[in-house]
Amino acid sequence: MNVLLIGSGGREHALAWKLAQSPLLGTLTCAPGNPGIADLAACVSLDPSDHAAVIRFCRDHAISFVVVGPEAPLVGGLTDALAESGIKHFGPSRRAAMLEGSKGFTKDLCREYGIPTAAYGRFGDAAAAKAFLGTQRFPTVVKADGLAAGKGVVIAGSRAEAEAAIDACFSGAFGAAGAEVVIEEFLEGEEASFFALCDGAAVIPMASAQDHKRVGEHDTGPNTGGMGAYSPAPVMTETMTARTMNEIVRPTVDAMAARGTPFKGVLFAGLMITADGPKLIEYNVRFGDPETQVLMMRLKSDLLVAMLATADGTLGQVELEWSDDAALTVVYAAEGYPGTPRKGTEIRGIDAAGALDRVEVFHAGTKAVDGRIVADGGRVLAVTATGRTVAEAQTRAYEAVDRIDWPGGFCRRDIGWRAIGRT
Ligand code: AMP
Ligand code: GLY
Repeated sequence: MNVLLIGSGGREHALAWKLAQSPLLGTLTCAPGNPGIADLAACVSLDPSDHAAVIRFCRDHAISFVVVGPEAPLVGGLTDALAESGIKHFGPSRRAAMLEGSKGFTKDLCREYGIPTAAYGRFGDAAAAKAFLGTQRFPTVVKADGLAAGKGVVIAGSRAEAEAAIDACFSGAFGAAGAEVVIEEFLEGEEASFFALCDGAAVIPMASAQDHKRVGEHDTGPNTGGMGAYSPAPVMTETMTARTMNEIVRPTVDAMAARGTPFKGVLFAGLMITADGPKLIEYNVRFGDPETQVLMMRLKSDLLVAMLATADGTLGQVELEWSDDAALTVVYAAEGYPGTPRKGTEIRGIDAAGALDRVEVFHAGTKAVDGRIVADGGRVLAVTATGRTVAEAQTRAYEAVDRIDWPGGFCRRDIGWRAIGRT
């Protein structure tokens, strides 16, 4: 089977790495891909928002399965166009992708179906949003409704900060994504990421992970797309996992099916594990980045088989096998990230790092120039390792990091601290 993978990040490199291990795979093509993916797949430039071009490409290259990595093409309806053309795909429809595309949509769904989440209000103008602040305790959380590349969330410590966040949203700081705001209760607890595959009706749990969102050590400084992750997340005990499936994930999948917009793909629940149990912070309708890098290192089963079952509605017959080992990934970012990252600095030693046993270096934002690898984004590499424990995986991942010679980059040295601190 010939597969087209859409995307260019560390997540897609990890997916390509795992798909390439499937005996079912014929050719693998990635659009646009990156220099790391180029070792595993043919990389082509294709605009995923040009649905007709993607469909033409599939027909011309006998591609019978399309895996969509990032959220934007999902929210943009690429899978709907593929469905109309009879091309099998992994990823939800545009209407099911609303679970990520609109925070207000998800909050309303949670309210209607009794799914635990932070109490909230949803507003289309600044005056009403500000009036609602009078009912809130601080800190409170102000969110742009739509996709804002992880930048649309402000934890406001005071009413003045919350008002400034509301004004920023409605003055267009996040474009169309800020046409509505959600204001919600601040949840206390430990965050975890949880992944499940859904075929529209059946749901099977994947695994848990924990991400480090802040740029600085000890979880300080501005939020990023994620500076590192590990799996499993110790806070996701068997009980917490069962509660998450029963109280959050299954009711959501059932609700989407009942509404006539069944969810097919991977549902990524961002959770706060509170004193009352798991609460939903947000949904993503695709794999996490960098969580995928650690998930793929632990997945023993054939990813392509699982993805096909998700598309075919046969997930009930699939059982995923996971390694008992832990995996940990350290994101190596370009100086300046999460502001404006410095591009074009040369990176050496990637092969030496990847040559270590139980280590994979996934490319996230690199470019090949005359046989050299240079930085071409904010998050540039995801240096990933496994070990019997998170501590062992961490030691190995940093050993690999230390083989990389990149004066223009930086990474956190404390990825995994929370998990390691528990043991
Ligand atoms: P989101 O983009 O919705 O995942 O939010 C980004 C980050 O903001 C989350 O990973 C949390 O750390 C934090 N956050 C969002 N909503 C809440 C909330 N209701 N209570 C506490 N923290 C939150
Ligand atoms: N690491 C968080 C995300 O992929 O949204």
